[in-house]
Amino acid sequence: MARVLLGVCGGIAAYKAAALTSALVQRGDRVDVIMSESATHFVGSLTFAALSGNPVLTSLWDAPESIPHIALVRAADVFAIVPATANALAKLARGFADDLLSNAALAARVPLVVAPAMNAAMYEHPATRENLRLLVERGVTIVEPDTGFLAERETGVGRLAERDAILAAIDAALARTRELTGQRVLITAGPTREAIDPVRFLSNASTGTMGIELAREALARGAAVTLVLGPTLVAAPAEAHVVRVTSAQEMCDAALAGFSGADVAIATAAVADWRPAESYAQKVKKSDGPATLALERTPDILATLGARKAGTFLVGFAAETENHERNAREKLQRKHLDAIAVNDVSGGAGFGTGDDEIVLLWGDAGRKALGTGSKRVLARALWDALDVLRARN
Ligand SMILES: Cc1cc2nc3c(=O)[nH]c(=O)nc-3n(C[C@H](O)[C@H](O)[C@H](O)COP(=O)(O)O)c2cc1C
Repeated sequence: MARVLLGVCGGIAAYKAAALTSALVQRGDRVDVIMSESATHFVGSLTFAALSGNPVLTSLWDAPESIPHIALVRAADVFAIVPATANALAKLARGFADDLLSNAALAARVPLVVAPAMNAAMYEHPATRENLRLLVERGVTIVEPDTGFLAERETGVGRLAERDAILAAIDAALARTRELTGQRVLITAGPTREAIDPVRFLSNASTGTMGIELAREALARGAAVTLVLGPTLVAAPAEAHVVRVTSAQEMCDAALAGFSGADVAIATAAVADWRPAESYAQKVKKSDGPATLALERTPDILATLGARKAGTFLVGFAAETENHERNAREKLQRKHLDAIAVNDVSGGAGFGTGDDEIVLLWGDAGRKALGTGSKRVLARALWDALDVLRARN
């Protein structure tokens, strides 16, 4: 049994949300319904109250003493908005909070499943497309509308998805939240800095975004996450246990400390391969600077973890500029990894916040392309793929 918070917006398809409520109740879920003011022009709140067996809320001001938008989202396991109007998509995407439904959506920490329904021109409008893109970026599940007969007596895209598709999306969102419950996940992220002197260092362009997004997704799936994070200005999720480190040696020590108890370890950090053989205690004067810098290897963190592996599912990342998959597969074997995610960083792609392309490799020939997208979207795809892979092992 799950607690489903159902938001109903003011569109023709609002009546279909009544059938969805009934289907959820019949399979044993508890349903709390919030209707937008516009939705009440289409279907009476009484319908949803009777079908759900719970009071229906439509206004922020009906029972303000209970702060309903916070209480309802805290109690819910999943928040589904069916149908979502063009207006609701715009408000969700931009963070407007001018009624109960939009306040609840903004306050929700649970997965959001949004099923839009509208006229084809509204759905295809660049503003709506952009709003949908922003929501997908943020990890919202969009249940794409179907193409079919619309209320305007014409055929086009914008018809609310079938009930089974919406139920499946709700189930997938719920399953995801439980997938890593009770599991411990260790993630390394960010660059390292290898000191030349107190103000100069060797480093790289990594921002730690991929690892931070993987940590965020693991938390959303119920894991306890330790994030070993190199120097970055990107904010780490507050719910993670964040261990801040600077050098490769510090990162290696912190990763080893967290490794033995971890069910899954993912090494995304762009660890410096070399460090200055000698580090100066005082800032080196321009005039005294060494003409050459002698370097030595830093510890290979992934190989160190791979050598000590006992039951932890170990995933590496390979940022390659050439022969990507061949090099990554060699690394997979040599470092005793269970899987490796390969991304092409030629031309600087892969670093920073732009789009990325990832292929996951495992075993002798296992391969799954996770596609191209933001690190947020790829983090979800990667955890989905790891879930399938771990279930097989
Ligand atoms: C008859 C009628 C049907 C409508 N159907 C839709 C619809 O299917 N999808 C949509 O996005 N807006 C639809 N609208 C417009 C919305 O009701 C309007 O944008 C409203 O402000 C939405 O409010 P809400 O997002 O708070 O529910 C319809 C309006 C009318 C009058």
